[in-house]
Amino acid sequence: MCGIFGAVVREGDVTPAILDGLALLEYRGYDSAGIAVFTSRGMERRRRVGKLEILRNALAKEGFGGPATIGVGHTRWATHGGVTEANAHPHSDSKDELVLVHNGIIENYLDLRGDLITKGHQFLSSTDSEVLAHAIEDRLQTIERGGARQHPDISALEEAVMSAARAARGTYAIVVLHKRYPDRIIVARQDSPVVIGIGRGAAFVASDVPALLRHTRSVYYLRDGEVATLTTEGVGVRTLDGKVVSYRPQEIAWDAAATDRRGYPHYMLKEIEEQPDAIAQTAFDRLDDENGDVRFEDFDVSDEKLKSAQRIQIIACGTSLHAGFVGKFLIEEFAGLPVECDYASEFRYRTPLPSKDVIAIGISQSGETMDTLKGLGQARERGAAILDICNVKGSSIPRMSDATIYTHAGPEIGVASTKAFTCQLVALYLLAIRMGRARGRLSRDDGRELLLSLRKLRPRLDALFNDAARESVRALAKKYQGSRDFLFLGRGLNYPIALEGALKLKEISYIHAEGYPAGEMKHGPIAMIDATLPVVVIATRGRDRDKTLNQLEQVRARGGRVIVICNAGDADARRLGDDLIEVPATSDHLAPIVNVIPLQRLAYEIAVCRNLSPDNPRNLAKSVTVE
Ligand code: F6R
Repeated sequence: MCGIFGAVVREGDVTPAILDGLALLEYRGYDSAGIAVFTSRGMERRRRVGKLEILRNALAKEGFGGPATIGVGHTRWATHGGVTEANAHPHSDSKDELVLVHNGIIENYLDLRGDLITKGHQFLSSTDSEVLAHAIEDRLQTIERGGARQHPDISALEEAVMSAARAARGTYAIVVLHKRYPDRIIVARQDSPVVIGIGRGAAFVASDVPALLRHTRSVYYLRDGEVATLTTEGVGVRTLDGKVVSYRPQEIAWDAAATDRRGYPHYMLKEIEEQPDAIAQTAFDRLDDENGDVRFEDFDVSDEKLKSAQRIQIIACGTSLHAGFVGKFLIEEFAGLPVECDYASEFRYRTPLPSKDVIAIGISQSGETMDTLKGLGQARERGAAILDICNVKGSSIPRMSDATIYTHAGPEIGVASTKAFTCQLVALYLLAIRMGRARGRLSRDDGRELLLSLRKLRPRLDALFNDAARESVRALAKKYQGSRDFLFLGRGLNYPIALEGALKLKEISYIHAEGYPAGEMKHGPIAMIDATLPVVVIATRGRDRDKTLNQLEQVRARGGRVIVICNAGDADARRLGDDLIEVPATSDHLAPIVNVIPLQRLAYEIAVCRNLSPDNPRNLAKSVTVE
């Protein structure tokens, strides 16, 4: 979680760049923010509880004592220690010579801290992170006082960072600066994402690529157990035990403009509105219309492998898991393969079963979600082949997979996932077709028909992106913003959409909401229905519609207030709903993509009506890189 941005430049002032970089990473945490730079006055640090804006205002009133060519900043998502200024990063050592920011969790921090206290170190915070600053200070002192050097070809600071990192157990991305080594930034990583940006006469480090794009598109994703030294002359990488790593930076295709709000009041709204294009980018270059098949770029999975698979295991979290639930329906139907779909956090701790002939598919927007990463690692140990669907090139999950299908949603910055989700649905639709074709379960004509439906989807989406559609959801939001609870019902492929509608609303409006399979309602939740409970029922035309309308009758009979999602001109659905959201018609298989869009919008508009910030919901972080 936590956002990190650091920079070393030949000339100029890094402070504005660090603040702007942190602004693009604030989705990772906003409990507190801090920055440390080296100016002519020495190490200067400011930290504030709350959002970055508060830190910015503090700096506007009382800035640093001059420009700085090196510095680091951090936005925190608290794990150990409350939300206080003392617990905010950067942390420093006893002499205020070293500063450190950390993302992750140091599991053995109490042991390390105990040893350091015995040696006279005093701790000012209750975080696990501060222990690393003192551990590095301790080792640096030993080395500088003439202690035996293991790697005399690197500076004492690098060696001290390596030694402290080797002693730490847990997960970390750390960035270290030291007053006596003012030309360099040291970065180390274990199981927490961190990306190095390589510029001309400048180097950068950030938790995620979008923050780097204003400075460079040439990046290197530091790998577990590596330490990087950033100077204005370039970037050197070694392993924790000092071996030189020869690395190749990769060029990122996203442009910096994609990370701006482009006039929208919130990233979430911008990202909702970007969906028609994102879906097109994810789908259309991959369609082999002639053969009714799909061609994924750089996807080295043979037809034999797909044919011999006995089972699919989907592993994901949150919104990505909801995409997985839709994927289960699609793969079972198109490819005739049994699919299990699990919360990654549950899967990784279940009894291991041998998984030969199993293909595990991880789904993740960020590619860094710890539970998904570890769940896939478990699946690999049990013998499964690993595929993934991911939005961030070069992130950890694609790096550990046998093959990746990238969603081309562009950077998603709003904490609540929107465009990444609909692109995941598209990717799963395509993958299910590819599997069905490889396994001979779909004919060429079947494949062609499915691809044609997808081609027709794009123009139909326009009906969800005009002023009337926007206004009708806004009006509903105004009407229902005061509700205490919501229930979302859907059947079949729309059941995961009910889950997703409820998750979106909970996340950003803090209204309690539940998603339920429509047919299951009578087994319990029906007891909750009364005139104060809005029930959103997804009842678009298709194989499940009539049954869903029956359930809707049951809600009405108990005085429930029903908002129906239905296709234009559906008189029955109209009759049964107190309020309607009309959506364009499409096939059963693509209906989830269409139906989720107004639910995302409803959650967004309700949050706005309640004066909440949809981009930074409380307690949440976009990229969950801790357990
Ligand atoms: C919900 C949301 C989260 C993520 C989940 C997995 O709006 O964003 O539930 O979907 O944390 O994240 P990724 O997809 O990055 O693995």
